[in-house]
Amino acid sequence: MKRIVIVNGPNLNLLGKREPKVYGTRSHADLIKIVRAKAKELGVTVSVLQSNHEGEIIDFLQKEGPGALGIVINPGALSHYSLAIYDCLQALEVPTVEVHLSNIHAREEFRSKSVTARAAKGVITGLGFAGYGLAMEYLAEL
Ligand code: DQA
Repeated sequence: MKRIVIVNGPNLNLLGKREPKVYGTRSHADLIKIVRAKAKELGVTVSVLQSNHEGEIIDFLQKEGPGALGIVINPGALSHYSLAIYDCLQALEVPTVEVHLSNIHAREEFRSKSVTARAAKGVITGLGFAGYGLAMEYLAEL
C-alpha cells in the first residue's frame, strides 16, 4: 500500500503546552489523529515519528523513506541548521514537503532560514495543523 512518512522534530511532543499562542492548544496526539484520518481518506498508510534527536530522525528517514510516496517533515529548530537532515533528504530522493505550524517568516530572524527546505519540493508554513493534511494531499496526488 502507498505510504507517507511523517516526521516531527524536537519539542513538537510539547504541542498544546508549548507557547500555545504560537503553536495552539492541541497536542501532538491530536495532530497524529488528524494525520491518520487524512491518511484513511486518501487511502494511504503513514509511518510516524516524533523525536527530539537528530540521529534518530535520520535513522528513521533512512529506514522508512525508501519506497514511500513522500515525506512530510517538520524538523522544528533543526530546520535552521541541520545539514545532516538536509543531506539525508537529498540522498533519499523521495518527494518531501516541509511543514511549519507557525509562519517562520513572521517570527525571529533566525527562523526565516531553513537549510532543510532546500531538499523539499515545497514548504507550508503558518497554517497550523492544516499544513500536514495539505502536504499529504499533495503527495498522494503525485
Ligand atoms: C517550527 C518552527 C521552528 O522555528 C521551531 O523551532 C519549532 C517549530 C514550527 O512548526 O512552526 O520547533 O518548526
